[in-house]
Amino acid sequence: MEETERLVSRTSEGADIQVEQTLRPQTLDEYIGQESVREKISLFVTAARQRGDALDHVLLAGPPGLGKTTLAQIIAREMGTQIHIVTGPTVEKKGDLAAVLTNLQPGDVLFIDEIHRLHMAIEEVLYGAMEDYKLDLIIGQGPGARTVRIDLPRFTLVGATTRSGLLSSPLRGRFGVEMRLDFYTHADLQKIVTRSAGLLNVSIDELGALEIAKRSRGTPRIANRLIRRVRDFAQVKFKTVTGFTIDQKTANEALNLFEIDHAGLDAMDRKLLLAMIEKFDGGPVGIETLSSVLSEERDTIEEVYEPYLVQEGFIQRTPRGRVVTHLGFQHMGHQPKTLF
Ligand code: ADE
Repeated sequence: MEETERLVSRTSEGADIQVEQTLRPQTLDEYIGQESVREKISLFVTAARQRGDALDHVLLAGPPGLGKTTLAQIIAREMGTQIHIVTGPTVEKKGDLAAVLTNLQPGDVLFIDEIHRLHMAIEEVLYGAMEDYKLDLIIGQGPGARTVRIDLPRFTLVGATTRSGLLSSPLRGRFGVEMRLDFYTHADLQKIVTRSAGLLNVSIDELGALEIAKRSRGTPRIANRLIRRVRDFAQVKFKTVTGFTIDQKTANEALNLFEIDHAGLDAMDRKLLLAMIEKFDGGPVGIETLSSVLSEERDTIEEVYEPYLVQEGFIQRTPRGRVVTHLGFQHMGHQPKTLF
């Protein structure tokens, strides 16, 4: 299934990105959830500001849609500096990175999304930039080539990764702070849905917000997308653009129509579980096999579908492959496999 067709996909494109931007919290005070990450960022920002220095480099790890970019933007804002955003695999030449680095002002934030997918040669340029704030550039080619060393301002690299395990140790070791974002609780997502509804001028009651929260896979980006789709549903159902309140019943009806079940799983998640149950007796199944059976990229399965299914206890990763748990069998209305 195409990512764009998935209401619960954790990536965004087009119009979504713009609306998301308007719903994003701008300051740490507005930011809901991820208590310990928030506390640490607040501490480091305060300390760096007191010293009049740049914040140490920060690595943010966790599944997509949990707020890594938002936090990087907040860090820059709280430091009173600018943010420059690049995505790992799109930086193709050393010169591309050099151009970004030489444009930085003291204290600026360089945000590199998907930093685990940086090309090796590019990553090596970062080492000196992160450690000594120096950039070695080779000018010219062949025997006449020479190296010039450029001083960079003290800046903060904020790296985001969905796969911290794939980061090379030299790169990882150059971050002063590493923080992991976890899936949000229902209570935090309920607050986020309520806040977003307010910004979108949509009326929603507590139970309506909780219903959307419960089906958002612990992910604010999904919650913010669902609130807008539930609004569409309510608008058509009540035949009015603003004269309605989304309650639990309306949220429930809408989400059922969109085929998002009570655990927040969509058609693709259920297809994955069902394939494992019906074709492989619940597993163990290798990731490559799953990828070809579902016609879905291995990375997408590992980074987008699996983390939530694992977190909710529907599947387990074992050295021999993925296995559906008792809970997973039950959720899909199948008799759990009896072991031996
Ligand atoms: N919108 C998206 N993520 C959010 C968060 N963590 N807090 C408040 N609003 C949000």
